[in-house]
Amino acid sequence: MILWYDPFPAFLDEARLTDVDDLAEIHAAGFHRGWHAAEVEALLVQDGVITLVARRGTPFGTRRPVGFVMVRAAADEAEVLTIAVSPRHRGKGLGRRLLDEAIRRLYRDRVRHLFLEVDETNEAARRLYKRLGFKTVASRPNYYAGPDARPATALVMRADLS
Ligand SMILES: CC(C)(COP(=O)(O)OP(=O)(O)OC[C@H]1O[C@@H](n2cnc3c(N)ncnc32)[C@H](O)[C@@H]1OP(=O)(O)O)[C@@H](O)C(=O)NCCC(=O)NCCS
Repeated sequence: MILWYDPFPAFLDEARLTDVDDLAEIHAAGFHRGWHAAEVEALLVQDGVITLVARRGTPFGTRRPVGFVMVRAAADEAEVLTIAVSPRHRGKGLGRRLLDEAIRRLYRDRVRHLFLEVDETNEAARRLYKRLGFKTVASRPNYYAGPDARPATALVMRADLS
């Protein structure tokens, strides 16, 4: 058995304004239409928005984000605005840790329902959401324009937190 020791394990943290360039870069690597740093910043400071980042240390002492989740709450409902992990750090449980922590905070704030939309062809994201208790409640055909210009169906999913 090979034991893999990571000297710079990722930890979860609140996002800061100094993170916006890194967050925009991570987002652009994950989505056909990436967000500019200014769009990330506008959401980051919006009322009701919680942005959590996974940070990883480096030998140079920096602790840059390698993934993030943004959720927006209003009254007892919330939505996942985005979640993305930088390609080199996917498949290590960071997406799950980020969303799990966001759900904990929403639950603490008495949010009862968390919604999101996902492209039905996005296997990784669908598996993550299913694992965390989301159920499909609607589907919107021809919702996304994919990179190949073919329209894709969006699934609306909901997790009940209470
Ligand atoms: C979706 C995303 C955030 C998942 O982050 P991640 O850190 O790689 O996910 P995790 O390592 O926590 O894995 C979560 C689950 O997804 C599964 N998964 C991860 N990558 C997968 C892949 N390429 N194919 C199928 N399942 C995958 C894992 O096996 C795990 O499921 P399990 O608990 O049943 O084993 C990441 O793939 C990403 O940034 N994608 C691009 C942006 C995106 O699509 N965001 C979602 C938009 S709705």
